[in-house]
Amino acid sequence: MPQHSRARPKPSGTPRCAAIIVAAGSGVRAAAALGQRKTPAPNLPKQFWPLGTKPVIAHSLDYFDEQPSITAIIIVLADFFIDKMADLLSTVKTPVHIVGGGATRQDSVRAGLCKLAGLPDAEGIDYVAIHDAARPLIPLGLLDQLIDATNMTSADAVDDSKIIGAVPILPIADSVKTVTPASPPPQELAGRLVTGGIDRSLLGAAQTPQLFRRQAITDLHNDFADNDGFTDDCSLAEAAGFQVIGISGAKQLMKLTDADDFAMLTHLANAVMTAPRRVQTTDQDMTTETRLGTGFDVHKFSDEAGPIWIAGIKLDSDRKMLAHSDGDVGLHALCDAIFGALADGDIGAHFPPSDPKWKNADSAKFLKFAVDRVAARGGSIINLDLTIICEAPKIGPPRDAMRQRIAEICGLPIDRVGVKATTSEGLGFTGRGEGIAAQASAGIAIPAAPKPTASMSTASISARPSAPETSGTAS
Ligand code: CTP
Ligand code: MG
Repeated sequence: MPQHSRARPKPSGTPRCAAIIVAAGSGVRAAAALGQRKTPAPNLPKQFWPLGTKPVIAHSLDYFDEQPSITAIIIVLADFFIDKMADLLSTVKTPVHIVGGGATRQDSVRAGLCKLAGLPDAEGIDYVAIHDAARPLIPLGLLDQLIDATNMTSADAVDDSKIIGAVPILPIADSVKTVTPASPPPQELAGRLVTGGIDRSLLGAAQTPQLFRRQAITDLHNDFADNDGFTDDCSLAEAAGFQVIGISGAKQLMKLTDADDFAMLTHLANAVMTAPRRVQTTDQDMTTETRLGTGFDVHKFSDEAGPIWIAGIKLDSDRKMLAHSDGDVGLHALCDAIFGALADGDIGAHFPPSDPKWKNADSAKFLKFAVDRVAARGGSIINLDLTIICEAPKIGPPRDAMRQRIAEICGLPIDRVGVKATTSEGLGFTGRGEGIAAQASAGIAIPAAPKPTASMSTASISARPSAPETSGTAS
């Protein structure tokens, strides 16, 4: 965000936003660079290669699915891969619409926007985030930053009313050179002569997701339909004389274009993306305090057939869990551990089971909310530890997938997430197989409240707002 930006009041209400993920490319450079036989998944374009625990495209799909402002996700795919995508949608709660792509990225985005315009609730959608599936690692708060930036004014803007979107821009660290032309232009620059340098202080690399006012970018894509050659969506706004504001891009948003990128992204998927909020557990300065919280949850089995959700993972089970939400005892216990560490109520207070909005809700949303409450207080999570108590299903086989999923939701490295399981030796309700229980603990680091000074009266301390009333039930 440029320092000279100043906030303009946001439109009232929660912004409604759609996401378009373009994934209709054939990934020629990635496949060629790696050599067909060595690709992680031969015959599949790069957006379906496995990265960490899931395919490349599933990373951005899950990111948008977890954003409260996203009300629809459009995935643009080559026709041939539409069936393949269905396997990845079983865990997604946001409405997803799939549409065939075009010959160029620009054609594919236009197809996505056209699909969006045809949705019954399109008129109520203010913004659209347009994203390359080839950029899997979107930083946690990026979408909100884009929305906020679109509603700011910039000292550089000629006319604020012309700002129609926001784009993550990454500074260029290398010196930038011009080289002798070649025809046709090869990717390879080796052997060509350096003809000059360009002042990089005025340059930046544009990434995605790029966020726009929905109607404005839809009109632009329609207007420029016959004018091919735009490699991103911001370029259309520039060509039409509209303004787009930059926000700080992120290295982890790098695009998977060739083999080296894939190697780097594989490392990043296990490190940077899952640790955007690194915490210092040693040498903490005097203003940070460490807090602990615990959580406990129980859900009863219903008479209906499974599957069930535990710790963010779907498991086969004879019986479903009886719950208003998805009944994930593991994630609920973790939420309460975090709320406990913050002294910030409990899951039932934040997500009342009486509210129809949370019916069948994905508990990942609850956990993400709890993590965001920590971040909002300027803190970060140090570690999470979960114990699941049941006779069945067996937790050993999916244990690491559970750790990875929790790490992903919370933006933590996996080595800060523990998942353990125990039976209760046949005793009690878990022993009789009537339900599943989970207990959790969370360690968090947050800025310490200022120490009361001599002049601070007892009355002023006790007058601080108390934690919200708890409903006493997990959703
Ligand atoms: N894309 C698309 N439709 C196209 C071309 C590209 O939806 N006709 C998408 C890609 O799937 C990718 C994004 O646009 O998510 C950025 O494009 P790029 O990185 O160039 O991917 P590919 O075109 O697949 O790769 P290549 O150019 O190496 O073939
Ligand atoms: Mg391409």
